[in-house]
Amino acid sequence: MTDKLIIFDTTLRDGEQSPGASMTREEKLRIARQLERLRVDVIEAGFAASSNGDFEAVKAIADHIRESTVCSLARANDRDIARAAEALKGAARARIHTFIATSPLHMEKKLRMTPEQVHEQARLSVRFARQHCDDVEFSPEDGYRSDPDFLCQVLETVIREGATTINIPDTVGYAVPELYGEFIRSLRERIPNSDRAIWSVHCHNDLGMAVANSLAGVKIGGARQVECTINGLGERAGNCSLEEIVMAVRTRRDYFKLELGIDTTQIVPASRMVSQTTGFVVQPNKAVVGANAFAHASGIHQDGVLKARDTYEIMRAEDVGWSANKIVLGKLSGRNAFKQRLQELGIELESEGEINAAFARFKDLADRKSEIFDEDIIALVGDESVTPEAEHFRLVSLTQHSGTGERPHARVAFVAGGQEHRAESDGNGPVDASLKAIESQVRSGAEMLLYSVNAITSGSTESQGEVTVRLQHGGRVVNGVGADPDIVVASAKAYLSALNKLHGNLERVAAQG
Ligand code: KIV
Ligand code: ZN
Repeated sequence: MTDKLIIFDTTLRDGEQSPGASMTREEKLRIARQLERLRVDVIEAGFAASSNGDFEAVKAIADHIRESTVCSLARANDRDIARAAEALKGAARARIHTFIATSPLHMEKKLRMTPEQVHEQARLSVRFARQHCDDVEFSPEDGYRSDPDFLCQVLETVIREGATTINIPDTVGYAVPELYGEFIRSLRERIPNSDRAIWSVHCHNDLGMAVANSLAGVKIGGARQVECTINGLGERAGNCSLEEIVMAVRTRRDYFKLELGIDTTQIVPASRMVSQTTGFVVQPNKAVVGANAFAHASGIHQDGVLKARDTYEIMRAEDVGWSANKIVLGKLSGRNAFKQRLQELGIELESEGEINAAFARFKDLADRKSEIFDEDIIALVGDESVTPEAEHFRLVSLTQHSGTGERPHARVAFVAGGQEHRAESDGNGPVDASLKAIESQVRSGAEMLLYSVNAITSGSTESQGEVTVRLQHGGRVVNGVGADPDIVVASAKAYLSALNKLHGNLERVAAQG
């Protein structure tokens, strides 16, 4: 007899709280569609009350996703909960996830509320949420550092009020596996109505133990839901990583004895999509989704794998969606072939107009790059997902000159708010000159926190360069990503994409505020 483990993905909510990882509505919808293809059970689409942008994103996801449950976070108050319910109206299956902090430190210093007030607020909120939705999750924020007696009282109350899932966050990543597992087991044993809810784990990775803690919560504590993010994206050191949890439970089914609904072949495409959208690059030695995760470099290992795969491989690369880089299309490919490849990659463009625009970009790329890989198409469609309203700045053309012993110089033409601007500048290198030229006109005053270049497909200098630029301005941090076979052009695109995000009103209330 095996139980099912529910996979609750919070890439679009807790993952997005990572500074610089904010996404547009279209980007979130594209990722939500990929999460549905991955067959995650629950997609936490955002925090509807935090901003109009987040409300619209949760609503769009609720309106489009049919297979996975769509969830919105809400603080434990009527306004947040009503806003979440409103955003979720169109969902086939909806969940409201309400939370309030229960640790002495958070109650006293952050909320300035007594334990009695917190207890009552939790009770009223779950009762109110249940009036809007049958599926209600409750989280005692900083639950792991809360007093167990107090936690038992609050959790018993919210279950009585109808909470269907109880999630125990290790908000600050303080737990260690055995203690966290025991903590959940003891709560379940002590709370008389605990069997009326599904128990869930939510671990942060500050000490690098989010996955180990979550697995202990499942194995020792009896939790049957894990909250996680693609690539472990999340604030500070991130959240529990979905790909590691899923592959641990699947590879060690002999030990965990749990069923999963996940289509593991969609893991690598999901990882790439999240990385390309946010600009958070995946480290090469990252388990499951890192470029080296299945690369056997040493002679002894290669010899072993050639003789019998399982000498050194505990999972098969193709089972998690790694496929040999395939030349999928080229210069002579037509619109139908391009459209079919989009479908095979699970990319749905809304209108014929969007397909035509993406095809025009594809033709432009194919003129400059003889072999077009799946990754190139994903990056190209990423460019396409920017709506005209969100695209205040757009690159028109760039020429630059640099050589040994010469001061690099760049000339850039770009559109800002519908008007074409031209600018030129010297710089330390061609990238520096190009970005200085743009900045001389835009005068954003933004501080650059990160600049990085990666090859979209490995193995050759013919690959497109993918540039990530992280800018900070007025307390906001945004990432811009740009791809092009010419890395100077990719840099200018990335810089303008970051400026678009700074220009758009993406302000939001911190979820833990
Ligand atoms: O880490 C945390 O406590 C959270 C809650 C809002 C669930 O993300
Ligand atoms: Zn969290």
